Parts: sequence; structure tokens; C-alpha cells
Amino acid sequence: MKTINQPTVNFLDVGAGPVVLLVHGFPLNHLMWRYQIKSLSMNHRVICPDLPGFGASPGSGQSLTLRQCVEGLIGLLDRLEIETVSFCGLSMGGYIGWQFWKQYPDRLTNLIACNTRAGADNETMARARRVSAGAARENGIGNLANEMIVKMFAPANLSNLAEAVELVREMISSTDPESVAQGQLAMAERPDATQWLAEIRVPTLFIAGQFDNITSTAEMQSNCELVPGAQICEIPQAGHLTPLENPQIFNEVVLAFLRSQRHDLISG
Ligand code: MLT
Repeated sequence: MKTINQPTVNFLDVGAGPVVLLVHGFPLNHLMWRYQIKSLSMNHRVICPDLPGFGASPGSGQSLTLRQCVEGLIGLLDRLEIETVSFCGLSMGGYIGWQFWKQYPDRLTNLIACNTRAGADNETMARARRVSAGAARENGIGNLANEMIVKMFAPANLSNLAEAVELVREMISSTDPESVAQGQLAMAERPDATQWLAEIRVPTLFIAGQFDNITSTAEMQSNCELVPGAQICEIPQAGHLTPLENPQIFNEVVLAFLRSQRHDLISG
């Protein structure tokens, strides 16, 4: 296992085989995939980047767009001479996934959209993000970790999964307030990807969480119905952070999906 620090991106690169790119949510970093690395890397090369300004990756300057995040990921894959990936993104990572597919459809073999949605923010949501960005710039991270943790985890997991909760607390608390601000503004500006869903031509898996109050299973189901041939799986006993809250089932579902696609390739 190695972690490489480069001027533009920090990432983890583990294992060998078909590449799985794991793209984290907001305001987290690659450590949120802690419970996936060992399991997925047995048969895959797993690449987990920190998006610009998150984890140990430097920020992108004065502002950030999700499109820039896509370009950064493509730059990383080019440097590593990786042509195609299975893209797996959670929440903000999923918003980036739609744009990755739109801009670089030939670089994807599969898409795994976890706890995410294709729709853009409505005006109320976008305004709330601008307020949150202003608050981060003015007051710093403050109580953000506590505020977000109760929304992200299923209620029972707040006490049952102390290690995962602590990990998320550390990730949020250590994020630069400017990156929080830029992430919120980037998400507020993101385009509506719903119209792209019917054009997606790679095998796609949606992963929802039984108790996800940020992205409901119903909303993900209606996105799933628009993608030709897509499947959806709801992870039990999990909220918004399915890979951290029920890693065993999450990993089984992802590996079964990836295996089924390889089988199609071999037999087809
Ligand atoms: C995330 O987990 O990335 C966030 O919930 C995304 C968002 O704020 O829409």
C-alpha cells in the first residue's frame, strides 16, 4: 500500500487488477473508504484521491467547480497511465461522477452512485449553501462536525459505530474552512444531471442507505429508473455513509456488481 503526495493531488493506490476509483463525499477525504481498501484491493487496483482542498490535497485557488474535480481526476489517471475505471462516488463524489461520465464517457467501464442524486440544488438549498460558505469563511469550522454527523449517520449508529463516527469527526474538523466554503459553492453551482441519465451506457449501480435522510432511497430509485439497465441496492442499517456504516454489506454488493460485469465481459 502506498500514499503518494504530488503537487496536485494526494491519493492512495493499492492492489492490482481492474481499477476502481473511489471518490469521497463532502467535507470528507479518502479516509472515508477505510473499510473498502482491503476487501476491494484483493482483486482490483483501488485508487482513492483527495479532491482539491480536502484531505492532504492542496486547494485549487480561489474557487472550485465540480468540473475542475473531474479534470483533476482525469489528470491523475493520465499520469498513472490508467485508461478506464469503475467510478464509485459517494454523494458529492457521485455529483462528480455524473460529470465525469458526461465529459469522459470512454474512461468509464462502470458507474457506482452511492447516496447521491442527479438533480441540482433548488434555490433554497443553493442559498443555504451560500450561507454555510460565508459562515465557514467568517467563523471557521466551528460546530460543523457535530452538526453534520447527526445528519449523516443513522441514529443507532451514532452510538454503535464510535470508531466510524470519530473518523468522520476528525475528517470534518481537519478540513480547511476555505475548502468547506468552496465545496459548498461548487455544489450549489452544479448542473442538473437528470437529463443525462438516459444517455448513460455503462453498467450502473445505485447504492442507497436505509436511513439516509440526505438522499432518500425513493429519490435514488427514480434516478435509477432513468438509467438503462441500472440496478439499485439499499444497504440496511445505514444512513448517508453506507461504506462506513455497513461496510460488510456495502463491499459485498460492490464486489458482486463488479464481478457480474467482468463475467459479462468474459462470456460476452
Ligand atoms: C456529501 O455527503 O457529499 C454531501 O451530503 C453532499 C451535499 O451536501 O449535497
